[in-house]
Amino acid sequence: MAVIPVALGGRSYDVTIEPGCVLKGFAAKARPYFEQYHPQDGAKHRKVPFVGDTNTYRLFREPIEQSLEAENFAAEWFVVEPGEGAKSWAVLEKLCDWLLGLGVTRSDHVFAVGGGIVGDLVGFACAITKRGCGFVQVPTTLLAQVDSSVGGKTAINTRAGKNLIGAFHQPSAVLIDPLVLDTLPPREMRAGYAEVLKYGLLGDTAFFDWLEANGGKVLAREPDDLAHAIATSIRAKARIVAEDERETSGVRALLNLGHTFGHALEAETGFSDKLLHGEAVATGMVLAARYSARRGDMSHDDAERTAKAIGEAGLPAEIAAMGLACDGARLVDHMRHDKKMEGGTLPFLLLNGIGKAYLARDVDLEDVAAFLDEQLQAH
Ligand code: GLY
Repeated sequence: MAVIPVALGGRSYDVTIEPGCVLKGFAAKARPYFEQYHPQDGAKHRKVPFVGDTNTYRLFREPIEQSLEAENFAAEWFVVEPGEGAKSWAVLEKLCDWLLGLGVTRSDHVFAVGGGIVGDLVGFACAITKRGCGFVQVPTTLLAQVDSSVGGKTAINTRAGKNLIGAFHQPSAVLIDPLVLDTLPPREMRAGYAEVLKYGLLGDTAFFDWLEANGGKVLAREPDDLAHAIATSIRAKARIVAEDERETSGVRALLNLGHTFGHALEAETGFSDKLLHGEAVATGMVLAARYSARRGDMSHDDAERTAKAIGEAGLPAEIAAMGLACDGARLVDHMRHDKKMEGGTLPFLLLNGIGKAYLARDVDLEDVAAFLDEQLQAH
């Protein structure tokens, strides 16, 4: 078991990584966050609110409820359809009405059982319901476990773009059971692994070296290797979030390595299943590494080492192989619509080497378009 603190003063919380903490002994771990739902003498027995999607409801409702019932608690579920459609005004409204109907108070906790979509939606609903009630993240994908469940970014999507309406609202706890990943489809596992590789690439050369040697075992869900990869990723994220909770100093922006190039690829493929977010980040990291090498910031050998680590994980390393019907200028246009644009320029996360990400504010978008044209034709 590992307990990793996220040190944020009055908003501090722990991330607990423990095999079985969801599938085998949920109530034992989560009880501090639903103790107040226990029937007191004469008080009404309130049900503990859980939110999941149809997949997580099907997979995890039974073990969670059995464990609650053994201690005389009961659960009530709000279930959404899987996919980005859940991060909408319409679903948010229904969820907030449901929470109000349950009589949720500011000191209550709502449990988000799912991937990043469920976590983002529930976190935002809890940020605005009663001007802020508590929530606990129970992430069930590798991507959510190593990235989105930690750090308090919550949001929904609108017609204007993804994650443009949201709030920073920290969870009260994050409960991670690596065993829930046993039922995660391999493609989703690889997409989450891209974010694991990101932590090595952005700031931890030794971790990148370790992943080069052991990534196959992480993807095969070998318990010790998987737990080590999750814990190392979360320690890195916790350090960064503690330093720059609201992404104002540039430190938290490092977590966006691969995301600007990746965002353009996601936009070009319609934010669809054609390219999952983690896959886009993977390709985006290859592009960031190769663009850094083109600028002379990093060696071409290290850029190709990055591409190899991503390709060997079964993630898309080459945009030329994606069958995109676009040129570099069109991809750069997508980047211009990214919310990270600052006063006419776009800050880029680039690399001075493996484990050495930095924020470049002097990137010429015409040059990026020319580079992308080369990449689209290469290999
Ligand atoms: N996923 C990026 C961040 O949490 O800042």
